Amino acid sequence: MKSRGNFSSRIGFVLAAAGSAVGLGNIWRFPYLAAQYGGGVFLLIYLIFAVTFGFTLMVGEIALGRKTGLSAIGAFKALDKRFSFLGYLAALVPILIFPYYSVIGGWVTKYFFVFVTGGKSASAGDGFFGGFISQPIQPVLWFIVFILCTTVIVLMGVEKGIENASKILMPILVVLSVVIAGYCLTRPGAMAGVKYYILPNFKGMTFGQLAKTILAALGQLFYSMSLAMGIMITYGSYMKKENNLESSVRQIEIFDTGIAFLAGLMIIPAVFAFSGGDKSALSAGPGLMFITLPKVFDSMPGGTIVGAAFFLLVFFAALTSAISLMETVVSIVSDKLKWSRVTATIVVAIFSILLGTPSSLGNGIWSGITVIGMDILTFFDFVTNSVLMPFVAFFTCVFIGYMIKPQAIIDEVEEEGAVFKSKGIFAFVIKYVAPIGIVAILVSSVAAGLGVFSF
Ligand code: PHE
Repeated sequence: MKSRGNFSSRIGFVLAAAGSAVGLGNIWRFPYLAAQYGGGVFLLIYLIFAVTFGFTLMVGEIALGRKTGLSAIGAFKALDKRFSFLGYLAALVPILIFPYYSVIGGWVTKYFFVFVTGGKSASAGDGFFGGFISQPIQPVLWFIVFILCTTVIVLMGVEKGIENASKILMPILVVLSVVIAGYCLTRPGAMAGVKYYILPNFKGMTFGQLAKTILAALGQLFYSMSLAMGIMITYGSYMKKENNLESSVRQIEIFDTGIAFLAGLMIIPAVFAFSGGDKSALSAGPGLMFITLPKVFDSMPGGTIVGAAFFLLVFFAALTSAISLMETVVSIVSDKLKWSRVTATIVVAIFSILLGTPSSLGNGIWSGITVIGMDILTFFDFVTNSVLMPFVAFFTCVFIGYMIKPQAIIDEVEEEGAVFKSKGIFAFVIKYVAPIGIVAILVSSVAAGLGVFSF
């Protein structure tokens, strides 16, 4: 089948895929998980996963898309009817992620406005974040503002413009992050944070904690690299045969992991310098970035401008990811229900507002409502990242490893005379390491969660 060839150059493909991959996952989610799950231990496990599972799955998904010229639902079906379910399951993930992703996008938008309107010092106060998210109306309104921004862009079809803008804005975000991280690292007490973040320390960790850390790192890998949800299959369907798939994947991964690492280097030492490095400060969870960074900006010369610029850039990173999430959902809905793009976009926006509102309220007036011990947002995050994505990833490995066989992917990567340098490792990981690893991780963390291992 002919590739759809929408990306004119290899670098265009890499930047578009990186635009989807780099988002709140890197800047908001990665640092709070690393802080919560033992710093260096989490970082080490994440890096090992990135070069093994991450690389293998991303090559597999992009190659599946390029080979079939179809997105997830069609691609699995075209190659093996029995695996159609996998396409649908993958499609479910962005439908569930987009609403709560936009809740966090709303928090970022709010913080941008706080800084623009001179609220720098107020936002550094201890109760500021808690006060904001516990209000009934405000966080929901900012969430809706963020969804509407995304909807307008998807409706107008100006993604290309945003894509181009982010080519300029992303490098600025990197530079600004380096500056902020540099500032944080020179604060008194920050070095203890650097140590905590970089040096793995397994001492005192129970088996249960380790199992949970490994599961969190695995979920984060899928989330951050936009894997196990059909997105990279769709992107692959737009890639040209003459573009080198293997080196594109390497570049996307380096970009994605680099930004996550940098975000951790900015936020975790700051936790030690400004909020103490005790357990409660480190396990702030989804609020960590919003609690810690305002303190940094407040103490920084020019903090109002740096803070406003930072939140604006994060807003753009979140927006590019949100657009790719919403686009995916819209194309699934309009393909399946044969609706026009406009109708599908509006329905998806309304549906996502309805589905996301409980996640927004769950941090405030609905905080009494918990599902298996989690607030609503954390629950959606858990179901998608720790349950659905590992499940989809496992079956994708089985599909490639045993149904179409790794050679089919290797042939695809080697189209037009390219050499797949890591093909041996690829075949080994996709057939054995990844599926066995994913099952082991899921089983042990469920067991740990149920208290089977309590030593
Ligand atoms: N990878 C994005 C991030 O890190 C999240 C995302 C997932 C975006 C899936 C698009 C699709 O923020």
